[in-house]
Amino acid sequence: MTVASALRAVAEGELATALDLLAEAPAGSRVAPRLMAYLETSVHNGVYAAPSAFQEFIEFGGNPRLYRRTIEAVRSIHHATRPTAVLDIGCGDGRVTAATVGPSVALVDLVEPSSVLLGEAVARFPAGTGLQPHNRGIVEHLDATTTRWDVTQSTFAFHSLAPAARRATLGALADRTRHLVLVEFDVPDFADGSMRHARYAADRYELGLAEYHDHPSVISDFLMPVLVGQFDPSTPRLTFEQSASSWQRDLAHAGFVDVEIEVIDDYWWAPAVVISARASTGQWGDRR
Ligand SMILES: C[S@@+](CC[C@H](N)C(=O)[O-])C[C@H]1O[C@@H](n2cnc3c(N)ncnc32)[C@H](O)[C@@H]1O
Repeated sequence: MTVASALRAVAEGELATALDLLAEAPAGSRVAPRLMAYLETSVHNGVYAAPSAFQEFIEFGGNPRLYRRTIEAVRSIHHATRPTAVLDIGCGDGRVTAATVGPSVALVDLVEPSSVLLGEAVARFPAGTGLQPHNRGIVEHLDATTTRWDVTQSTFAFHSLAPAARRATLGALADRTRHLVLVEFDVPDFADGSMRHARYAADRYELGLAEYHDHPSVISDFLMPVLVGQFDPSTPRLTFEQSASSWQRDLAHAGFVDVEIEVIDDYWWAPAVVISARASTGQWGDRR
């Protein structure tokens, strides 16, 4: 409750109150001292431009299992659809892209605003594989190109888009991709910064931090910025998550059909879900 109240205070811009509350937190809290240290000292600059903490994060805790299951799920879409043109939105260091793109693929568009991560993604592909790296965000990429894809995939990245950009991007993709596959977390639809949101985050972060006891920089340089970004209006917000049913609604609204959702992992933050859909033939079939 103390951590949740502190997060609520952060959401109200009351940093001093948040720090007072955290100073009184029960000794057993894992989150309170880490959150306090972060609020007191950190420079809040995002987490992907210098991505070493993010990359350490995905190597440990529940992430190896989560990534194994993510790769299996995305691969099964490739097996079913045999794409020749693939777009990966927010490919990160390309570990999912490289593990899922098969030999039938002639074009792989990698869209990734972090130049460090994009460079690592490119290095995973042998020369001559039809790779097109694009060092920019997806909104800019769709504006700058007219390419169409058989499969568009995005793992734990589509939630980087704020709701208006998310809806506009899904609308644009419904016209330009035959199949869409997202892997995201099924997070309850909170009123942003509400006590319900704060309680959820505080409880889940106790579980998450337990997995990174031996990785302090993961906590200070990745998990804390992601947590505080959800509450502090003065720091960059890195995630705009929502429930699986809200994703389903957004995809259907954008014009996708056969939207299917499957839980692939009972992850500490929220269940991980694969969300797959196809464009309706009216939108896609005639114009390719
Ligand atoms: C949690 S990481 C996931 C990376 C990768 N897909 C994976 O599964 O490991 C989120 C990624 O989204 C990227 N990202 C952030 N904003 C984006 C945008 N507007 N368009 C495309 N990618 C974006 C980040 O740079 C980061 O690489």
